[in-house]
Amino acid sequence: MGGPPPYWADRLGPVSEDLDIRPIDLLDPDQQDVAREWVGVHGSVQRELFGDHGSEWTLDEIRGFYASPTSRRVALGAWAGGRLVGALEVRMPLADNLDLALVWLSVHPDHRRHGVGDALLRAGESAATRHGRSTLMGETEWPEGRSDASERFAERHGYAVAQTVLRSFMPLPADRDALAALAAADDDYAVETFVDHIPESWLEDRAVLQQRMSTDAPLDDLALEEEAWDADRLRETFARTLESGRRVVESVARHVPTGRLVAFTTIAVSAGSPDLGFQQDTLVLKEHRGHGLGLRLKAANALAVIEALPAVTSVRTWNAASNDHMLAVNRRLGYRVDGYSREWQKKTGESE
Ligand SMILES: CC(C)(COP(=O)(O)OP(=O)(O)OC[C@H]1O[C@@H](n2cnc3c(N)ncnc32)[C@H](O)[C@@H]1OP(=O)(O)O)[C@@H](O)C(=O)NCCC(=O)NCCS
Repeated sequence: MGGPPPYWADRLGPVSEDLDIRPIDLLDPDQQDVAREWVGVHGSVQRELFGDHGSEWTLDEIRGFYASPTSRRVALGAWAGGRLVGALEVRMPLADNLDLALVWLSVHPDHRRHGVGDALLRAGESAATRHGRSTLMGETEWPEGRSDASERFAERHGYAVAQTVLRSFMPLPADRDALAALAAADDDYAVETFVDHIPESWLEDRAVLQQRMSTDAPLDDLALEEEAWDADRLRETFARTLESGRRVVESVARHVPTGRLVAFTTIAVSAGSPDLGFQQDTLVLKEHRGHGLGLRLKAANALAVIEALPAVTSVRTWNAASNDHMLAVNRRLGYRVDGYSREWQKKTGESE
């Protein structure tokens, strides 16, 4: 590898006789084996917490994120005794939220309390600072009925809770007649659905809905700014999602008198877990709330998943604990809480 070392390299290299921190280029074909190990370390944390019910990105999905022009991502690994024991990503948005860095940190359960997390987090924070990012965010997650030790790690490193989130799931196939009854209505709105390929003519309206999503879902104490979405960014995002092996089922509500799209909801299914749907964003524009569109769209989309992707046996979702409306809709659909997460936040100065 030629060229100067990265400018945050002062945090890289041997930390102690037995611990080494180095960057990994997830897009480099020569580093595919270590890239797989890196994904595996993140997966080991999910398996330890949730057994067979964890949430894992595939390497193809992650490589898609690294190829995207809308964020800069840095991947670091921690080696102890020649083995990869810790994995960290720092994601820095490039289209908006230019002071933000999102940290994703995992230490293999067999290698905890040896300073691996500490060294990796410091290297990641240093990279973020050198890129001018002064708001740091990270996430901890735990299953229903268990306490979470990672909270003490986050607190110890100066992070504060900015949001508490409920993880829940809906078993599929659900009662089709009941879903059809929830999806039916005779009013000014028409529900339309696509599988995998978003119609080109939807992109402009759908980009507005995506942008609203970043401000209208409860943020609690998260210092997030409005995201910048347009048709090109949305087209690129959907194309990348499909290339990475994800299937997508999305339903929208069209306001018939104006012809505009005013609400949407999306479920995606990863190639790595074809029996599991991820319920992603749902949004109804403010001026169209109060017509039951959230419940109706989610019921219609669940029916579409049952039809198009019959291998899916459950759908998982995350909602802010403060999001009363969405949680009420989810309860009506049969979602049950099985875990929690917390978003942690720390503000730093511009330089160390
Ligand atoms: C949180 C996590 C990254 C910590 O990794 P680690 O390598 O065990 O952490 P370190 O050994 O560097 O711990 C540094 C300090 O954090 C605190 N800490 C870490 N784990 C702790 C625990 N289980 N109980 C109490 N304090 C803990 C301690 O103060 C510790 O210092 P000490 O061991 O000298 O007392 C790891 O537990 C993990 O991967 N958890 C799941 C993923 C996650 O939650 N990541 C996001 C974190 S913001």
